[in-house]
Amino acid sequence: MSQGKDNMRLLIEPTAEKATQLVASIFRSALCERAAQSKPCRVALAGGTTPHALYQTLARYGGELGEPWQWLEIFFGDERTVPHDHIESNYRMVQRALLDHVPISLDRVHPMPADADDLDAAAAIYERVVRERVPAGANDIPSFDLVLLGMGGDGHTASLFPNTPALDETSRLVVSQFVPVLGRNRMTFTFPLINAAQAVVLLVTGEDKADAVADLMGPSPTVPAARVRPDSGLLYIILDQSAARKMPR
Ligand code: 6PG
Repeated sequence: MSQGKDNMRLLIEPTAEKATQLVASIFRSALCERAAQSKPCRVALAGGTTPHALYQTLARYGGELGEPWQWLEIFFGDERTVPHDHIESNYRMVQRALLDHVPISLDRVHPMPADADDLDAAAAIYERVVRERVPAGANDIPSFDLVLLGMGGDGHTASLFPNTPALDETSRLVVSQFVPVLGRNRMTFTFPLINAAQAVVLLVTGEDKADAVADLMGPSPTVPAARVRPDSGLLYIILDQSAARKMPR
């Protein structure tokens, strides 16, 4: 990954569990730091299967974490075009793994309206919510305290898939697009919004991601996740040994 060393941290853990625990500690530190300043901690969560264990870990902080929970405000970096109670919904996964177990009020949780009839209009509405709730950093783009991302075996992140128009979006912050490889529409953050964050955590584990990680960390990356390059924030790339197995040494 052609990433300036100064704002990228590559951390390789022996197991997926250790990688997940490391991300949980980064998340907890960010939340507690903001809570200590009596300031909201605005995060965008990833979907898919990898972060499920992370959300379960965070849920185990439950009541023990106490007051900081009230400062957490949750958004979603992408969503499938299904109702929020559908088994494929990222919101449903986060709700069952985390939201049902911690004292966060639902008015601080913002699911993506990805099951709307007019997805373009819905994406614009979600962008407006982000702009209203998340203070702008440079370039008048909302700057999340933390954006959590995963990566698919094809190197996609959020729902920014290879060879899709959203990869090159430079003005809209949230879009909906048809993803041919899925045969479905998705709603997703775009790179301008992701890269405006104070911190981005890319959590990638498992043997099936080794080829995409090798590309991502190689000299001339081609995968969409390589476009995650925070303008001024920190990028944590957190891998387990299996995902890092084919990385150039
Ligand atoms: C989604 C995610 C997506 C995910 C990757 C990796 O909605 O599926 O946001 O970007 O992070 O597809 O998914 P896994 O963690 O399931 O491998």
